[in-house]
Amino acid sequence: MKISLLTVPFCIILFGGCQVYNSSTGDQSRYLNSTIDTSTAAGQRLSAATSVFRARCYKCHASKFASYSTDAQWIAGGWVVAGSPQTSMLYGHLYGSNVGGPEDMPQGETLSPTELGYIRDWILGIPP
Ligand code: HEC
Repeated sequence: MKISLLTVPFCIILFGGCQVYNSSTGDQSRYLNSTIDTSTAAGQRLSAATSVFRARCYKCHASKFASYSTDAQWIAGGWVVAGSPQTSMLYGHLYGSNVGGPEDMPQGETLSPTELGYIRDWILGIPP
C-alpha cells in the first residue's frame, strides 16, 4: 500500500515533466520563447517587444517569429537592423510606424502607441 501511494506522485513528477507543450493547442508558439534572458535591460526590452508579438502577431505569424528568443536571431532573420527601427523590415510593416512602407500589421487591426513603443525601443537599444 505504501509503495502504490508513492508511485502516483512519482509518476506525475517523472512523466508530467516530459511534456514541453501541447502541439495541438498552439501552446508551442505561446511558450517557445519564454527562454528570453531578462537579466539585462536589453533582455527586458526584447521581452517587452516579444509580449507584443505574442499577443498581436503569433496568431498569423507563429511560424515566422515564435522561435526567436535573441536579438541575434531577429537580425539574422533579416527582420531587424540593430539600432535602426527606420530601416528594419519588421518595424516598417507596423501600423503607426510612419516609415512609409506597408504599415498594415497586425493586419486589420492597430497597435497602440505603447505597443509600438516597446518594439521601437527594443530595436533602438540593440547596439549597431
Ligand atoms: C490577421 C493576420 C495577421 C496578423 C495578426 C499579423 N499579420 Fe503580418 N502578415 C499577414 C499576412 C496575410 C501577410 C502577407 C503574407 C505574408 O508575408 O505572410 C503579412 C505580412 C507580414 C510581413 C511581411 C512578411 C514578408 O515576408 O515580407 C511582416 C514583417 C509582418 N507581417 C509582420 C507582422 C507583425 C510584426 C505583426 C504583429 C504586430 C503581424 N504581422 C500581425 C497577416 C497578419
